[in-house]
Amino acid sequence: MKAKVLFLACLLATANLWAQPQLTADNISEVVKAMSPREKALLVVGFNSACEGYNPGLPGTGGLTHPFPQYGIPSVVMMDGPVGVRLEDRFTTCFPTGLLVAASWDRETAFRVGQGIGEETRDMGGDVILAPGMNLLRNPLNGRNFEYFSEDPLLSGSIAAAYINGVQQTGIGTSAKHFAANNQETNRLDGDSRMDTRTLRELYTRGFEICLRESAPWTVMASYNYLNGEYTQESYGLLTDILRKDFGYKGLVVTDWTGKRNTPRQLHAGSNLFMGGMYSQTEHILASLEDGSLAMEDLDLAASKVLELVTKSISFQRRDYVPPLKPDLEAHAALTRTLATEGMVLLKNEGVLPLAPSRAALFGIHSYDLIPGGNGAAFVTCPYVAQVDDALKEAGFSLNSGLEKLYRGYARFIEADLTLNHKVNVHVGLPQKPELDITRRLVEQVEKDADVAIITLGRVSGEARDRILEEDFLLQEEEVNLLENVCEVFHAAGKKVVVVLNVCGVVETASWKDLPDAILCAWLPGEEGGHSIADVLTGRVNPSGRLPMTFPQDYFDIAGAEDFPYHFVSEKANESAVHPERRGMDPKNISYTDYTEGIYVGYRHFVTHGQEESYPFGFGLSYTTFAYSRPVVKQVGDRVKASITVTNTGAVAGKEAVGIYVHAPLGGFSHKPERELRAFGKTRLLQPGESQVVECFFPVRDLASFNAALSRWETAKGTYTVYFGADCRKPAASLPLTLNKGRNYPVSRACEPVRQ
Ligand code: GLC
Repeated sequence: MKAKVLFLACLLATANLWAQPQLTADNISEVVKAMSPREKALLVVGFNSACEGYNPGLPGTGGLTHPFPQYGIPSVVMMDGPVGVRLEDRFTTCFPTGLLVAASWDRETAFRVGQGIGEETRDMGGDVILAPGMNLLRNPLNGRNFEYFSEDPLLSGSIAAAYINGVQQTGIGTSAKHFAANNQETNRLDGDSRMDTRTLRELYTRGFEICLRESAPWTVMASYNYLNGEYTQESYGLLTDILRKDFGYKGLVVTDWTGKRNTPRQLHAGSNLFMGGMYSQTEHILASLEDGSLAMEDLDLAASKVLELVTKSISFQRRDYVPPLKPDLEAHAALTRTLATEGMVLLKNEGVLPLAPSRAALFGIHSYDLIPGGNGAAFVTCPYVAQVDDALKEAGFSLNSGLEKLYRGYARFIEADLTLNHKVNVHVGLPQKPELDITRRLVEQVEKDADVAIITLGRVSGEARDRILEEDFLLQEEEVNLLENVCEVFHAAGKKVVVVLNVCGVVETASWKDLPDAILCAWLPGEEGGHSIADVLTGRVNPSGRLPMTFPQDYFDIAGAEDFPYHFVSEKANESAVHPERRGMDPKNISYTDYTEGIYVGYRHFVTHGQEESYPFGFGLSYTTFAYSRPVVKQVGDRVKASITVTNTGAVAGKEAVGIYVHAPLGGFSHKPERELRAFGKTRLLQPGESQVVECFFPVRDLASFNAALSRWETAKGTYTVYFGADCRKPAASLPLTLNKGRNYPVSRACEPVRQ
């Protein structure tokens, strides 16, 4: 009898398995149909501790989707972040950060960074890396600028696309984030980004539009904030009309790690997957189905998108894959050392770089304690950081050992102090370290045994809080003293001074840039940063980076400078939810931020309005010189071809980035930016005397401006001026381009300000 019962039980179990369709890439709708409402309501919400069999993944993992073995559905593992795989209990490679990648003006560099991160994600058992972060650099003080790319939507979108293509070439998915208008960290959960429609289209969704034209990210991450009075995650206009209908996006929309909001409204708007995931969201979905406030087809669409994502994942496609959990740290360290040199920007060089090995006096805590990356979701626990002092010694320099002892001891003391007094964890990283205030007398002593001085100034920032003006954008008093003392003492002795900027973004430079003889902007260059910096300082690599944003002379020269929480200071490590109303605070720039500058962000403002900058967008020097010749501009069907011959006219090999800016006739518009970047390229390494034709194509439609009243892009009939050269201020050549007729490109009417 017992055997019979057992047999019947197995029969039923097999029958049950048979009854449930097993997921394939071709039967998604069948599986969705077979799933119960409760199963679907679990599937579209991140796997969480209230779920049966919950598995959080490796410590530090971003989140997993809910598995359903009975349908052959595994979890999809999502890991942070843009600079490398963020895990809490094991080492991964810290790659160069977004700003540096964008400063390379090189899609190949972005692709290779993405490829490296994709490989490590795969090695650690991930399916999706929650990257790239690609919000526009509206203001230099946004805490997450370091992981983003540029003030220009084309440079942002194209570099993001190359990064995505690199990651996805390894079989790992990506998440283009944070869509959209998440341009400050202060009160990011509830802040309302308020802007006119032309600004939204031409700047804040434009980078994503270009990114989606040049790549196919498996997911797009919907940001936390409001946009014109509506949560982006609940905005049908943003997530369906613009992202899907206008941009043609076919992938999955995942929410940023939101707590419970209006889940049915989010589903209806086009949010497909709710991460990190709370059981109350599942319950809210079921209740909304019951009371009719949620249509089953909205849930089914989301479930289908999740299953599409599942079928792309390694967890699904390679059931037998056992992740080694050991990335190739050595190979990736060598890779990041090389890639980091591609985006370093030489801002000044008056007869000092490249340096031959000599006696160097190294000043500044960050010469001995380099900042490889930033804090928050983009933080990476890397196995080591190559320091500038060690790298210079390896390159044959002899350093002042007294300074090394002083600074290394100070760095250890500061680290201990910060760790003791701040709640430091891998999600937040370490806050800014104050510069050591050394005396002039010490500088005078050190100068006697040195041939050259090198000063490294550092800035770090991260998710959930913004930078501020005082002692962050502006230099600290100790830093000013250091610069003045070292430059006076070394110049009096006929010796040179080099400054290295190990920074998370723009800092004030105008007041002090005349002091040193050279300035190299090294950004947050990753774990091999010291070697990369030494490679550039010694001429092993000729710098070819170009600024992906404007360095203003004064913070208040920026359009919209007052429309940012530039002086909001709080003891909390996290400014995500500030609740100004509870604290009697002015809600301006906290509860809402008015993008009063409109489309005039960065060089669009500085060039159009004649505002002088300290260093313009696209600026960067080289150890060699280049000449431009034979420019060609012509319309080829619905594209514009712009090409130019670049020749290395100097004595050392080098690479040259080329920007293509266009000045458009006004057409029916009352105003347009004086010029806008429409394409860019970079030469290979050109030997002295060698030439290369840099050829760029871009759609004629990219010459259009957005007419909000008629909800369409419009190209004007007339003559355009096409400028060649990365530096937005100094074109190397220009040619006219005539459009014999204008054209309109209608799009959906969406996300318009609730008040006109
Ligand atoms: C964070 C970040 C996002 C990150 C996610 C998962 O809040 O905004 O960039 O990928 O949560 O950690």
